[in-house]
Amino acid sequence: MADEKAFHMTPDEFRKHGHAVVDWIADYTARIESYPVLSRAEPGQVRASLPANPPARGESFDAILGDVEKLIVPGITHWQSPNFFAFFPANASGPAILGDLLSSGLGVQGMLWATSPACTELETHVLDWLVGMLELPPKFLSGSSGGGVIQDTASSASLCALLAARERATNFASNKRGCDGKLVAYTSSQAHSSIEKDVQIAGLGLNNLRLIDVDENFAMRPDVLARQIKSDRDAGLLPCFVCATIGTTSSNAIDPLPEIGRICRENNLWFHVDAAMSGTAALCPEFRHTHRGVELADSYTFNPHKWMFTNFDCNCFYVADRKALIKTLSILPEYLRNKATESGAVFDYRDWQIPLGRRFRALKLWFVIRHYGIEGLQYHVRRHVELAQKFAGWVRNDSRFEIAAPAPLNLVCFRHKGGDEINQKLMDRLNRSGDLYLTHTRLNDRFTLRFCVGQTNTMERHVERAWSRIQQEAM
Ligand SMILES: Cc1ncc(COP(=O)(O)O)c(C=O)c1O
Repeated sequence: MADEKAFHMTPDEFRKHGHAVVDWIADYTARIESYPVLSRAEPGQVRASLPANPPARGESFDAILGDVEKLIVPGITHWQSPNFFAFFPANASGPAILGDLLSSGLGVQGMLWATSPACTELETHVLDWLVGMLELPPKFLSGSSGGGVIQDTASSASLCALLAARERATNFASNKRGCDGKLVAYTSSQAHSSIEKDVQIAGLGLNNLRLIDVDENFAMRPDVLARQIKSDRDAGLLPCFVCATIGTTSSNAIDPLPEIGRICRENNLWFHVDAAMSGTAALCPEFRHTHRGVELADSYTFNPHKWMFTNFDCNCFYVADRKALIKTLSILPEYLRNKATESGAVFDYRDWQIPLGRRFRALKLWFVIRHYGIEGLQYHVRRHVELAQKFAGWVRNDSRFEIAAPAPLNLVCFRHKGGDEINQKLMDRLNRSGDLYLTHTRLNDRFTLRFCVGQTNTMERHVERAWSRIQQEAM
């Protein structure tokens, strides 16, 4: 019988092109320093280079890969460049990329335990490993009342925490009747904007988000938080959720978790901790002081896709009481019913997140942890912190510059003493040069440069060169 006609890539073709793609990635990594870090593409340039219409007939894989080089690479900002010091990192690594490729190859949809037991169980297992690796409280272990789950982003994780908090505070009534304008959430004025977005999505309304003042180190002031909660209660409102940050996006400030946690306990509020980038620091015992008080949290989240060599997307989200989360998010239509779910012996992670579908993201995390081992991960995190601290030292020793905020880990906020315009121009010149990429924030209403060390392959020579370029351009 003749084979049925198909347009698919055959396994042999896949093998051949797959090798070419892996070779391409390896070559890209080897030559990455030759590209300007920040893409020089003008708005519309990439689209203008693409054909107006899709191809009527399939094209050769070589042509497609050739166009990646020719049309796409010029529009890439090289997040994986060791000269990338902007925002927070989104670092990747060989084992993570290969784990992700394998996940694509398996093409598993892990919404239920039954739809791929290994997808769920590896995830539970690796997240339990991380509880030990970061020395998080045992209540986040799957064998306790809580557990961990991989989400796409910290934004989603915090939304899930907020939704569970909302339901717990209203005895699970808001899911049914909607919000009545009384629920109030709290975070600091320095918290990530995702909390604002989450408050909008969860239906609390932005007017019911209190941005609590910070101290001189940009950390939340617990006294102001306590007063605000009391005044909201006195006004007949229903405080339900507090989000503290370990490592704020602007300046890496660390909120005082013990005091905030105590206030949450006293007022029966859900206490969520967002450690998006800086959670990774807890791999090293000497940086675990940043997590003091995390044992008081109802939920905790950090992003291996920022600083733990695991390519985007991979967020770890832990709760102390998984029942509250599951009761908030679970809906069971007939077509998802199955024996394993009904036995109550398994986790169905669709009940721990917003979407139904989910990828096999635990594979890449497992690959990373097994490839590096705890020792390798600790080594590179320590090295990044050490390099950032060296950079801070050089800034302090140059009388033209000043440090703008405490630098507890791998982010240094600094500025030229000449004022906003000089700093803006300095940053623009550096970024235009393509030699490095750094971004800014405003602290105490002053334009401030941020230098974050966290890219996988950043070494001392990259940080030295960056500082020397900054000094040159500051002339
Ligand atoms: C403290 C903090 N929280 C949340 C986020 C949002 O992360 P994601 O992109 O995973 O939603 C960021 C991003 O930089 C962050 O710095």
